[in-house]
Amino acid sequence: MGPEVRKVRLSMGEVPVVSDSQVAEVLSSTVETFRWVNSLTREVLSRVGELVFDKLSIYVPTSDPDYPTKVRTMAGAWGRYTCVRSFAANERNRAKGRRLSTNLCAVFDSETTELVAVMEGNLISDFRTASIAAVGVEACVTAWGRSGGDYEASVLGSTGAVGRRVILALSALRARPRRVLLAAKSRGRFNTVRERLAQMASELDPEVGEALELVPCETLDEALSADVVVDCISLPGKMPAGLVRELGEEVIYADVGKHSLDLNLASKFDTYVFDSLDLRKMPSPATFALKIRTMLTDRRFRVLELADVVRGERVGRRVLYTVLGVPAVDAALTQAILERLGLI
Ligand SMILES: NC(=O)c1ccc[n+]([C@@H]2O[C@H](COP(=O)([O-])OP(=O)(O)OC[C@H]3O[C@@H](n4cnc5c(N)ncnc54)[C@H](OP(=O)(O)O)[C@@H]3O)[C@@H](O)[C@H]2O)c1
Repeated sequence: MGPEVRKVRLSMGEVPVVSDSQVAEVLSSTVETFRWVNSLTREVLSRVGELVFDKLSIYVPTSDPDYPTKVRTMAGAWGRYTCVRSFAANERNRAKGRRLSTNLCAVFDSETTELVAVMEGNLISDFRTASIAAVGVEACVTAWGRSGGDYEASVLGSTGAVGRRVILALSALRARPRRVLLAAKSRGRFNTVRERLAQMASELDPEVGEALELVPCETLDEALSADVVVDCISLPGKMPAGLVRELGEEVIYADVGKHSLDLNLASKFDTYVFDSLDLRKMPSPATFALKIRTMLTDRRFRVLELADVVRGERVGRRVLYTVLGVPAVDAALTQAILERLGLI
């Protein structure tokens, strides 16, 4: 075990403060960790209709008008506890070499209202997002009638904090892909993007390589032919038009970045799956495309909650799965971490 969790003394009493490095003792970057995280996520998302959660976002102007800071707070309950996670994110951080967003979780006992812990939430956000993406992919490919080893996936933005965890989360699925194509943008200190990705892949938990084949790609286009595309790209604006035209006729596009997908393409999907229909009001290419198609009274498309897909609802040939991020997953995950650290 690592260093003891520190406590701060507030007027209400002593409150544990859990750092990312302490969270990392429980959330190690392994396939084994994702087996239990995925199973927790599956349980939460399949019961999403019974749960309570919400989100609020504001965009705060900064000294650079091109880069407002997004401040979001989300609350979700699971079992006895409620987690409120807040973050501030600015795309300018990338150029400055800083982490894109800064997350903090407050966990309350819903019965007594006691503050149970304050937790740094960066890893929690990366793990829960990756797991929601992977569990959604599994439900959609299963609805297609595919099973483990029966499909190819790609991870766009696979060098990112979320992208790397998506590779682990996919490897931990029961119905996992046969191959995962890896894509990123820059080559860093390497001669090619492929070399950089191969290096990154070699640093992953060796169980990934035992579970599936990893294929580094030089360009984004090379990764777009997969049956399943998980988009973890982070961009200040939208993706250049035309970049996504290489997508197959039958595709599950899991949109994690939410603003990176070409809007014209978004309107061509025949099935829109959301992790939560209640959160569908959050901005995303899918909500935009839905609005347009609804205005055009073209109703030959389906809108589903992931829980419906898990229960066996059919999906079409071109599925857009939008990861809005159900806050009840944060509550379940923070609770599991606090239990494993012996704090609840
Ligand atoms: N839906 C949710 O609930 C949720 C939760 C958390 C995060 N997110 C979103 O997920 C996205 C990823 O977050 P992160 O923390 O992983 O970001 P990150 O660490 O900055 O990673 C971004 C990734 O995108 C790649 N990329 C950037 N521009 C690209 C381009 N033009 N072409 C190809 N690849 C490009 C980067 O490649 P290089 O390494 O080559 O630059 C990197 O792999 C963000 O948009 C974030 O807002 C969503």
